[in-house]
Order: sequence, then C-alpha cells, then structure tokens
Amino acid sequence: FSACHKTPLPVSLRHLLLSLACGLLLAGCGKETAVDGPQAIKTYTVGTDAAYAPMEMQDEKKDIIGFDIELLNAIADKAGFRLRFVHTPFESIFSSLQQGDRDILISSITITDERRQVADFSTPYFEARQLIVAPQADMQIHRFEDLRTRKVAVQTATTGDLLTQKLMGKNNPDIKRFDSMPLAMAELESRGVDAVVADEAMVKYYLRHHDGANFRTLSDPAFSQEHYGIAVRRGNAELLNQINRGLAALKADGTYARISEKYFGTQSP
Ligand code: ARG
Repeated sequence: FSACHKTPLPVSLRHLLLSLACGLLLAGCGKETAVDGPQAIKTYTVGTDAAYAPMEMQDEKKDIIGFDIELLNAIADKAGFRLRFVHTPFESIFSSLQQGDRDILISSITITDERRQVADFSTPYFEARQLIVAPQADMQIHRFEDLRTRKVAVQTATTGDLLTQKLMGKNNPDIKRFDSMPLAMAELESRGVDAVVADEAMVKYYLRHHDGANFRTLSDPAFSQEHYGIAVRRGNAELLNQINRGLAALKADGTYARISEKYFGTQSP
C-alpha cells in the first residue's frame, strides 16, 4: 500500500487497469444471463394480424392488445415463458411460422384440416362462425345464396374468403379480397360491395364502433361452427403441451372467464 502511495501508477496505466476490470465485470454479468440451461426463460415471437378488434388490435401507442393477446399472455405466465407480439399480415401468417420468423400464431385463426397440414393447433379456445354483413336498406339479401350474384368483400385467406370462393367461384372478380378486415369493411361502407362475410365477434364489435345502424348481420345454415386455435410449428410438441396446459389452467381457475367478460361482457360467445 505504502509503495503504491509513494509511486503512483501513471494515469494511462490506471485507466488501462480500470477498463480491464470493467470489462471483466461486464463479461461476468453477460455470462450469468446468457446461460441457456433448463432454467433460462424463453421468449417466443408471436404472429398476429392486429387489425381485428377486439381480438387483436393496436392501441394509440401501437402496442398490440386484445382478447387473444391477454389470453396468450396469461398462458405464458402459467407456462413461464415470455412473448413478443409482432403484427403479421394474415395472408402470410402461416408461412411466417413455417419459416421460423414466428414461433406462435394467435390471430382468431379457425382450425381447419387444410391448416393442420402446415401447423399444429392447440385445443380450441373460442367458438366462432361467419356472418354476412349487408346494408340495412338492401332487402334482397336473406341468405348466403343471395350473394352469388353480388359483390362481396372478404379478408384474403380467411375462412370467409374460402366460403365465398366456394359459393361464387374461385376467380370470380366480384369477390373483393382485402389485406385487412378494416379495408373490407370500409369497402362495404362506401358501397363498393354489397356485403362482407367475416367472423362474428369482430363483425359485431366493428358495427358497434362504426355506423352499425346502417347495417344488419345475417347467419346462414351453410356456415358451420368454427373454433379458434393457437398455432405452433408442426412437431413442436413441447410448446404445444405448455400452451394446452396453460389454457386448461386458465379455464379452471376463472382467468379465461374474466378475460372473456372483459371483452364480451355477459353475452360472451
Ligand atoms: N377466423 C378466420 C380465419 O381463420 C379469420 C381470422 C382473421 N384474423 C385476423 N386477425 N385477421 O380464417
């Protein structure tokens, strides 16, 4: 100590030692958190088309919120992983999963046999069906069949799109296919089309928040019961099991009911 005191280290050497010590400290810290053992908390990237209120949407700060988001966050809390939600166009949502850009999809996605070929689905978490939206004043639309000779807007690659293609023909130019649901609804509002075919929960919410009084909704026996599922890459059984276990726990402990109540009130579907 006294030797040190008598002959102080040159300033440059002191700086060198100091920065060396800092470097070691930082490296040490980095190692602590980078350990990828079984205890490491995983973060999964979630794809969602966040223009589908109240299921998935963006608030003023562009944060992604909604029923699906709260549900998956609650599942992640149970399962002990973290989530990063990324706005993803619905049309390319499955390829984003297959390519590894997303680990999980939650986007009001109807479980279908065709989609089961490209992704694995959780147990169903929500019941859905299609609705026809038509102007109040158009008295000629009573059922799905009546749309055959009309102009119809849908969101590309949705079950509403597929059903409408079945009715009107795959390449029928009277099917106006849009990248997002708000665009399809806007087309109806400006009477560029005669009707929209889309999911009930989103449609009802949309009409409550827009000029709903000018429109009516119709169901049709041709529309079968649909179920939403959470998707993961095929074969990702570990993650799927965690999601399914989390979902079951949320249903058992009342969390699912609370989130549902928050978004749908008492007329929860
Ligand atoms: N349930 C429909 C389907 O799976 C529509 C889903 C659209 N979701 C969305 N976030 N735009 O095809």
